[in-house]
Amino acid sequence: MSTVKKNNKKNYGAKPAPKGRSGARMNQGAKQQKPKAVPAKTVKPKKEKPAFNRDKKKDNAGVHNQIIQWYPGHMTKTKRRMEKDLKLVDAVAEIIDARIPISSRNPDIARLTAGKPRIVLLNKCDMADKRATARWVEALSSENVRAIPVDCKSGRGVDRFVPVLTEMLAGRIESYKAKGMVNPSMRVMIVGIPNVGKSTFINRISKKTKAVSADRPGVTRGNQWFTVSKGFEMLDTPGVLWPKFDDQTVGERLAFTGAIKSDVMDTELLAVRLLDLLKDLATPEFIERYQLTEDDLQLESYALLALIAKHRGMLVSGGEPDTERAAYTVLDEFRAAKLGKLTLEMP
Ligand code: G4P
Repeated sequence: MSTVKKNNKKNYGAKPAPKGRSGARMNQGAKQQKPKAVPAKTVKPKKEKPAFNRDKKKDNAGVHNQIIQWYPGHMTKTKRRMEKDLKLVDAVAEIIDARIPISSRNPDIARLTAGKPRIVLLNKCDMADKRATARWVEALSSENVRAIPVDCKSGRGVDRFVPVLTEMLAGRIESYKAKGMVNPSMRVMIVGIPNVGKSTFINRISKKTKAVSADRPGVTRGNQWFTVSKGFEMLDTPGVLWPKFDDQTVGERLAFTGAIKSDVMDTELLAVRLLDLLKDLATPEFIERYQLTEDDLQLESYALLALIAKHRGMLVSGGEPDTERAAYTVLDEFRAAKLGKLTLEMP
């Protein structure tokens, strides 16, 4: 385990000693060293890698925060392609995660889709709280947007997609017909952040009867369309949107669900953050699984993680709780919905 992680453990909830940017303690008495002369050499500047960066900071209360930044450099090309493709479709199906409907949405979606009719698919609803999902359906639906809960893994709710789309596009279909088009075909594009279930949805809706229509004028070369149902075609390449990390909770929640890899973050810190939420939600599954009492739920989250480690017999030599192993367990079990059907964000 890294020194940084050890420091984190010691300092949870305690007022931290001042640290330098690198995380090392500042040696206030140390003399300023003169920079050494560097021999002249032509060095090719290193290209910035688009990647997750983690910077640990502490808030006013002395609690550790980790600021997750994501530089979506490689997304620029995708975005351009997506904007081009969006011009070709009549409607957009945006897939979001029903457990985190705020953090799994790209806030620019309305602008990117240029006000096209939009269906929001609240996916993974098998792992979300049913009542919360119902509230989200209501909150997200408006004149030009319809929301439907789906579980693309089992297929539940997916059969509502075409009827809702037909209803939404009825006016558009009529106007095409009025212009003389016989059997106009409506085109739809799937968009969403990574790991939200876009491919799973496409595989399910295509029902292995992928009928690829020929390239048409104006259609990006290489685009493949398949028939979803009579009169509806879907682009088989989904538009990958990028999450927005405007505040650290978005990054954390995406890491809780596994939408972004948690190995770029401190696992114990992430589990502690998740426990902050789980303590409040206090589902029977969570309480039973970790054999917790009412008093345990009042514990500070790092102490609770240590208790979970003890209850699970996760100890390191010397009998200390193995909080790192417990952190992986809590995160894995949350992701597998073993701690209950949970929605972490409410409308
Ligand atoms: P993406 O194209 O948007 O990147 O996402 P993708 O379809 O690859 O789905 C990401 C993960 O989410 C997959 O799990 C997939 O099975 C799972 N998933 C998609 N929809 C649902 C759903 O409605 N419910 C549940 N519980 N899971 C869903 P994986 O672990 O990456 O792969 P695997 O389990 O399919 O092997």
